[in-house]
Amino acid sequence: MKLGIIGCGKMGTALLRGILARGICAEADVCASDAIGAATAALQQLHPDVIVGSNEAVARHSDALLLCVKPYQIVETLKQIAAAGGDPLVISIAAGVSLEKMQAAAGAEGRVARVMPNTPALVGKGAAAFSLGGQCTEADGQTVMTLLSAVGHVEQVPEILLNAVTGLSGSGPAYIYTIIEALADGGVVMGLSKAQALQLAAHTVAGAAEMVIQTGEHPAVLRDNVTSPGGTTIAALAKLEEKGLRSALIEAVRTAALRAEELG
Ligand SMILES: NC(=O)c1ccc[n+]([C@@H]2O[C@H](COP(=O)([O-])OP(=O)(O)OC[C@H]3O[C@@H](n4cnc5c(N)ncnc54)[C@H](O)[C@@H]3O)[C@@H](O)[C@H]2O)c1
Repeated sequence: MKLGIIGCGKMGTALLRGILARGICAEADVCASDAIGAATAALQQLHPDVIVGSNEAVARHSDALLLCVKPYQIVETLKQIAAAGGDPLVISIAAGVSLEKMQAAAGAEGRVARVMPNTPALVGKGAAAFSLGGQCTEADGQTVMTLLSAVGHVEQVPEILLNAVTGLSGSGPAYIYTIIEALADGGVVMGLSKAQALQLAAHTVAGAAEMVIQTGEHPAVLRDNVTSPGGTTIAALAKLEEKGLRSALIEAVRTAALRAEELG
């Protein structure tokens, strides 16, 4: 696959690193551009065979093109791509730019896809969802899935659900950072050092998540497995219910999703 990247910042670079590491395409088949020369120079330091060109050159080169610029730059860049004369599948990772807006800028025939990524993609552990524009084929959906899977888990959803995805996995890392910090504070209250408490809290969250993913068990089953009658865990779980942790998280996702709708 001839791959293009427009915008070689944090997300563009992380996506490319994952894609190359998994051998989804070869370095020499990638063409990249950025408004700042230092960004493409840094990319070439890491991946010397990547071709660097203008946005138009990337558009002409690519079967699929990852558009990794900031949201306010998406429309202008899509117009450049449309005028360049190629026929790439354009995959935007910009938050909040609708497929309708993208389609208007890309032209009626343009194949556009919209992704809601999250920042753990930077360490190859993202959770993302995408929606396809009306001109995309099933094969385009597969291409998006393949490319994004290089940096984590991917789901396809109708565009109307992307605000829900924003509220859950888009903003979700921030909720979990708060939980990790609070767990660690609990450990410190009970005498652990801050550094040890943070490591134990973060690895507990990562380990529990991995149990859900790898076993496929319902979280309630996994929770029951570690909850003995009259024990420590059930005492803590009862406290969490009393303090409303579960409903606080449900409301957090709902509030973020509604805010995303307002901003959109
Ligand atoms: N949902 C999330 O949690 C999440 C997380 C990270 C990023 N994102 C999305 O990813 C996109 C990129 O974010 P980032 O953190 O990598 O930003 P970044 O600032 O690190 O990278 C953007 C790059 O685009 C380049 N650029 C700007 N204008 C350009 C143009 N006209 N042509 C070519 N290149 C241009 C910049 O020089 C910069 O290198 C954003 O749209 C953001 O909304 C979403």
